[in-house]
Amino acid sequence: MVRQRRGHGQQERGSSERRQLHRIDEDNEPRKSRMSWLWTIVMLLLLSVAAHLTYTGYLETRVTTRFDNNKMVTKSGLEVPQRYWGSYRTGVYFGMATREPHSPVLGLMWYQPQKLIQGAQSIRHNCDQGDNLKRYGWLQHDGVNFGIQELVDGPLTLKTSFVKRGHETCAGEWTARVEAVSNVEKEQELSLIFYVATEEKAEGWIQEDSVMRFEGHTPQLGDFFVTLLNYSNVLHSSQLVTKSEGLHKLRDTVMASLKWDVLNNNKFISLGGVLLPKGDNKPNFIATQLLVRTPFTMEVVYQRDEAGSGIQSFLASQEFDIELGRHSENFQRKFEDKFQLRAKGYKQEDVVDARATFSNLLGGIGYFYGSSLVMSKYTNEPRSYWKAPLYSAVPSRSFFPRGFLWDEGFHELLVSTWDVDISLDVIAHWLDLMNIEGWIPREQILGEEARSRVPEEFVVQRNENANPPTLLLTLKYMLTTMHGSLSKEHVNTISRFWPRLQKWFSWYNVSQIGPVPGSYRWRGRSVNAIHELNPKTLTSGLDDYPRASHPTEEERHVDLTCWMAVASQTMALIADKIGQNSERYSDTFATLSDPLQMNKLFWSESMRRYADFGLHTDAVKLGRKSKNDSTFIRIVQERPRLQLVEKTFGYVSLFPLLLCLIPANSPKLGDVLNDLRKPDLLWTPYGLRSLSTTSPAYLKKNTQHDPPYWRGPIWININYLTVKALFHYSRSEGPYKELAGEIYLQLRENLVTNVLKRYRETGFVYEQYNDKTGEGQGCKPFTGWSALVVLIMAEIY
Ligand SMILES: *[C@@H]1O[C@H](CO)[C@@H](O)[C@H](O)[C@H]1NC(C)=O
Ligand SMILES: *[C@@H]1O[C@H](CO)[C@@H](O)[C@H](O)[C@H]1NC(C)=O
Ligand SMILES: *[C@@H]1O[C@H](CO)[C@@H](O)[C@H](O)[C@H]1NC(C)=O
Repeated sequence: MVRQRRGHGQQERGSSERRQLHRIDEDNEPRKSRMSWLWTIVMLLLLSVAAHLTYTGYLETRVTTRFDNNKMVTKSGLEVPQRYWGSYRTGVYFGMATREPHSPVLGLMWYQPQKLIQGAQSIRHNCDQGDNLKRYGWLQHDGVNFGIQELVDGPLTLKTSFVKRGHETCAGEWTARVEAVSNVEKEQELSLIFYVATEEKAEGWIQEDSVMRFEGHTPQLGDFFVTLLNYSNVLHSSQLVTKSEGLHKLRDTVMASLKWDVLNNNKFISLGGVLLPKGDNKPNFIATQLLVRTPFTMEVVYQRDEAGSGIQSFLASQEFDIELGRHSENFQRKFEDKFQLRAKGYKQEDVVDARATFSNLLGGIGYFYGSSLVMSKYTNEPRSYWKAPLYSAVPSRSFFPRGFLWDEGFHELLVSTWDVDISLDVIAHWLDLMNIEGWIPREQILGEEARSRVPEEFVVQRNENANPPTLLLTLKYMLTTMHGSLSKEHVNTISRFWPRLQKWFSWYNVSQIGPVPGSYRWRGRSVNAIHELNPKTLTSGLDDYPRASHPTEEERHVDLTCWMAVASQTMALIADKIGQNSERYSDTFATLSDPLQMNKLFWSESMRRYADFGLHTDAVKLGRKSKNDSTFIRIVQERPRLQLVEKTFGYVSLFPLLLCLIPANSPKLGDVLNDLRKPDLLWTPYGLRSLSTTSPAYLKKNTQHDPPYWRGPIWININYLTVKALFHYSRSEGPYKELAGEIYLQLRENLVTNVLKRYRETGFVYEQYNDKTGEGQGCKPFTGWSALVVLIMAEIY
């Protein structure tokens, strides 16, 4: 229906343009000779065509036009030496890169030769769930100086640690130590491949010095050297010096080059040697393979010859131990200082696991460079956004190793607790992705390494689509909960953000406006999604959470309206802090959070709960239209009518509570709190499920093939918002203070216990948890917002 109406509008505009042209012709006719009359027509036509083309061109290019040239990221690359090098290649098991658009990259691959030959194993490189590593992840990582990671792969346990030195004032150097031990009785053989590679576009060069030493040069780094040191138990070594088609093809390039090497009657799988196209002596990929026996250890030392005076001392062996030990101690001290878990009485093992969970979020901060593909209603096909960097914590290193807008707001609650500078830098990068309309694309797939991992249909971002503005949640948190850690400089930075924040807010306020004043509607639901039980609302972040069965423009969404209320509240807060006029925002907040209006728009008196409103029927199911059909479609068994979607109860119904918009003395708070505790609704021993067991779409597939996603499983980000709200209401005077406090304690206990228990059992923090068994499910590791369990333990809200 939406599409029909829009099509109609375009036709009208077309014909009124024609009418106008016609009138001008008539006006001119009597006064002109026949020649000049014709001439005028031609000119006018040409002019109007030109004007039309210019205007269309203007509309087409708007989507890819920057907000302005005043960048929010004021320092990048070597201007921020502390964060120059890092484990920014979050999608690989171990990889180092700089925060430079075309950084040289270093990384690790490994495999067990016997298993590779049998076809029972592939070469390990990208974090891949199919590799079935028993567990892997950072045990410690402080986001700046060092990291310690452990990976368990069948009978092997690998450890990759790195530590930086001299990076306070310049690019500095670093050393990575790679260790491998057998975790079964028998010692194991494995092949380790360490490499350096550059992108096609990178300036500079790399070359091999010897099997154990590479060197290279870039304009930013000058000359650099990578040396493999202090290795033991090496049975065979080989090298590959070649051209790869790109960073996403490194493993394929290695695979294609493998060959047999016969040495003293022994056969070894070896790398292919120098394999450069004829006449080309510029490799972009150099790898050294060591066939080793456990226990194995090796140090990879990255250095620069800054003074041109030769390398002085290696950051290796005992010196490495000392530096790593020092940073690790600082990290543990700072962790206790920030989160106070020991002081709260947590056991040592809980603290260790919380540290690892948090480290995985920090160690999951990546640096990306490239452009998204975007579309607007004025473009016929996808266009490239401008090339830009993104510094961002990724939700999952295996499954979502890239930036997501609404995830980031949750990530930054944790990151800003740790280091406000990192968080503001991350937010600045996101704000630089704003176009002239005020839109920020919600999923950032930048660069070929990232794009190679995303299915085609998710690549293109559309400029009418929003995503919850959670970066404002972070800014609110910084200005309230964390205000003690904010320096004047931090406030100045937020002050610089102001014009973009205003534009961002107004983009939401206009583009997502709802059908009646004070309401908002997510765009991007498709009326044509006939294969979906309930057309998805990807933009809300809650993908398949059931909404009105028939998307229309009459729809209004309770979650988005609440997001807008809290966004305007935050804008007012920021304005006050930086000395800007906050009135418009506080007025908007007052309107949106007005209980009378909220109740009028979203409260179901019969069910006593908040709900979306739209063209809806619960009588839908998936099935075959006729017996012969192979695919399922949605079958509507009852005429939809405009109504509240009130039989559906779940996360969306909770938003007025989650964002603390219900007055503390409202009986509706009592209703919502009482519903929270009912096991047939949302309560489970492991946290709140996303959809009540009584809802029509509970655990229903959305298509023949799509399993339920936000239709039952327990998600940690929404549970975090719930405990945060309960904490708030348990401290607000009113009749429900005690009830809120009671539920708070139980819910917090359930969440913490279950996430830690599953981590201990399986080695992973998960995307979601099963609402019947508490088991982790969805992708793993997922130490994006699921890492919020650390803030829940610390009771920092
Ligand atoms: C590691 O290598 C460095 C540099 O060659 C050397 O000084 C040091 O003694 C080595 N340490 C061990 C434990 O072999
Ligand atoms: C948001 O939009 C509403 C409705 O158009 C308007 O009344 C309000 O002033 C806007 N708020 C801000 C802060 O621009
Ligand atoms: C369904 O399949 C049967 C047997 O293959 C065929 O005779 C019939 O015409 C088909 N009906 C339709 C509606 O396609």
